[in-house]
Amino acid sequence: MGLPVLHGIAELRRQIGQWREAGDGVGLVPTMGALHAGHLALVRAALGQHPRAVVSIFVNPTQFGPGEDFELYPRQPEADAALLADAGVSALYLPRVEEMYPDGFATQIQVGGPISQVLDAVHRPGHFTAVATVVCKLLMQALPDSAYFGEKDYQQLQLVRRMARDLDLPVAIRAVPTVREADGLALSSRNDYLSDAERATAAMLPRILQDAAVQIGAGAAVDPVLASARARLQRAGIGAIDYLELCDATSLLALRRADRPCRLLAAVRVGRTRLIDNFAVESR
Ligand code: PAF
Repeated sequence: MGLPVLHGIAELRRQIGQWREAGDGVGLVPTMGALHAGHLALVRAALGQHPRAVVSIFVNPTQFGPGEDFELYPRQPEADAALLADAGVSALYLPRVEEMYPDGFATQIQVGGPISQVLDAVHRPGHFTAVATVVCKLLMQALPDSAYFGEKDYQQLQLVRRMARDLDLPVAIRAVPTVREADGLALSSRNDYLSDAERATAAMLPRILQDAAVQIGAGAAVDPVLASARARLQRAGIGAIDYLELCDATSLLALRRADRPCRLLAAVRVGRTRLIDNFAVESR
C-alpha cells in the first residue's frame, strides 16, 4: 500500500484516532517540504520513539515577509512523498491553505520575551508570530505525543518549546541535531539557491562559527572572538552579516561572557541567499 496522504483536519484526526485505538503513539514532523537528509533525521527520531510518524508539508505563506522567497520556495510533493514512503512514514499530511486560514481568520500566537525580540525576530518582523501560530495549529490538529524540530532553526526550536510550555500543550517538543554536508554546511532547502561559487563560500560559515565556539568554550574573551569571526567571514566573501551573537541557550539573550549554557548563532547572506547556523559552546 502507498503512503496515505491526508488533506484535511478531519481525515488527519480520524487516522490518528485509529492508531491510538490500536495503542500506537504518534510523532509529528512539521515541515515545509523540499525534504532532505535533515528532515529524514527528524523522521528517524520520530519513528525511533513512536510506532507512527506523520510528516506535514505546508509552505506557510504567513511566515514569509514581503520580498522573501515564498514564490520561489521549492515545492516537490511527489519526490517528497517518495522519500517519506521509503523512510517508513505512516502518513503525509498536506493541509489546505483555506482550512489552515479560513475566511475571517484572526488569531495569532505571540510568544513574548527575548526569544521574539532578538536575532531573526529583528531581521524578519512577524516571522515568529506566524511560525508559532502555524505550529500551534498543527499540534492542535494532530495532537501527537511528540513533535520534532531541527536544531538548525535554533531560535524556532526555543520559541516552540516556550509556546508549548506556556500553553500547556500536551506534546513533547523534541530537538534533533543539525545534519551537515561533508564540508560542514548545514542542510537547508534554501541551499539549492546557491550557485557553485556561492556554495563554496557558504561552507566557510560553519567552519568560522565552529572555530569561534571552540575558542569561547576554551575560555577566550567573547568580544574579540566574535570580532575576529566577523572579520574572517568578510575575508571569505560573506560581507552581509545579519547577526553573529553568543546567546543564552534557552532565552537567547545576548551574552558577553560564556558563564552559562550558551550557543553561538549567525545569519548571513551569500549572494541573495540567507543562511542561518548555530553551534553549542561547550566549556572545557
Ligand atoms: O521549520 C520549518 O520548516 C517551518 O518553520 C515549520 C516549523 C514547518 C512551520 O511552518
